[in-house]
Amino acid sequence: MATSSPMVLSMLLLASLTALLVLAPRLSPPPAAAVAAAGEEASPAAGAGAGVNGAGSNGAAEGVWGVGVGEEADDLRLFRRAALEAAAAEDAKAGPPKVAFLFLTNSDLTFAPLWERFFAGNEARLTVYVHADPAARLRLPATPSFRGRFVAAKPTRRADASLIAASRRLLAAALLDDPANAYFALLSQHCAPLHSFQRLYAALFPPPIPTGHRQNHRQPRPPSYIEVLTGEPQMPSRYVARGETAMLPEVPYDRFRIGSQFFTLARRHAVLVVRERRLWRKFRVPCLPEMAQDLCYPEEHYFPTLLDMADPAGVARYTLTRVNWTDSVAGHPHTYTAPEVTPRLIAELRESNHTHPHMFARKFAPDCLGPLMAIADTVIFKD
Ligand SMILES: *[C@@H]1O[C@H](CO)[C@@H](O)[C@H](O)[C@H]1NC(C)=O
Ligand SMILES: *[C@@H]1O[C@H](CO)[C@@H](O)[C@H](O)[C@H]1NC(C)=O
Repeated sequence: MATSSPMVLSMLLLASLTALLVLAPRLSPPPAAAVAAAGEEASPAAGAGAGVNGAGSNGAAEGVWGVGVGEEADDLRLFRRAALEAAAAEDAKAGPPKVAFLFLTNSDLTFAPLWERFFAGNEARLTVYVHADPAARLRLPATPSFRGRFVAAKPTRRADASLIAASRRLLAAALLDDPANAYFALLSQHCAPLHSFQRLYAALFPPPIPTGHRQNHRQPRPPSYIEVLTGEPQMPSRYVARGETAMLPEVPYDRFRIGSQFFTLARRHAVLVVRERRLWRKFRVPCLPEMAQDLCYPEEHYFPTLLDMADPAGVARYTLTRVNWTDSVAGHPHTYTAPEVTPRLIAELRESNHTHPHMFARKFAPDCLGPLMAIADTVIFKD
């Protein structure tokens, strides 16, 4: 009918706009800077919350006023779009749920061959995303699972909020890329798997509880595996790293939390993170210069504080990623080297006091690749 055609037209227009938005290419190719260039060693630090950033040097000031300060328009657009589309995709039944592996790195993904073996045969149930610091000199060519999986990245540094921003970018990219992504595991180039993919998948997606045994006739919601601690000795000084009252009123001291930077988030929490702005605005405020050296690790506070405020019953309060803080130096955990990698170490690192064993561990030095590969099939992927 003639009278309805303007309506039809505008519907069509709306539909095609939506399609454009939804179908637009999601993943950018690896940043040229990151794949080109050889020569000098990539600066350590940032990516993994690791690497010694010249303790005692005055390099701290640069970090303090560094890249986490502003929130540029492109990031804001990305987070908004991810939150919107994720909500729209909530009902889309899209095959088996997937685990999104989010690699935050500022140097080569040395353990890619080990991850390839971990991924092999499970491609339908996983996706991979990499946020590589544009200043990093990646010299190793990307292996198949990592090829073309680099998201638009910005510089990351220790001691400012750039690691939070990078993690949010990874979450947003993964939410936009595939509605089947149901869990989001943040990892670094120093992380290694401790179990097979099947074992991880079975832990994340247990079979549904039979109707008769459910409470309230509802399936329990999948938890996020994130460490949430309180009462740690360093917390009072970490809380005032931006000034005595800087976190108020959004984050009173008794709501402030600490936890490991590396987590595995359930989808609803990934959406919560990219949608969230109130706390993010607080945590991206730079630390005071005198605090920056040892007390500024916003990436260890933002996620546990936010999730414990928003959904305390929905978080497992522990992380699937084992780290060894014994004898830590300048905020760096123990870094395992090749001679330490033994079947016994893998068994020890898996141990946990919780529902699931640890599924990943860090930090491993690059020379661990050989020994890890040597025991991959006989130990690591043998559950
Ligand atoms: C943790 O690191 C310390 C050295 O800092 C080492 O002695 C210990 O064996 C490590 N623990 C595990 C479980 O690897
Ligand atoms: C488990 O708990 C015990 C007792 O608190 C502790 O000594 C041990 O280190 C814990 N193990 C792990 C793997 O966290």
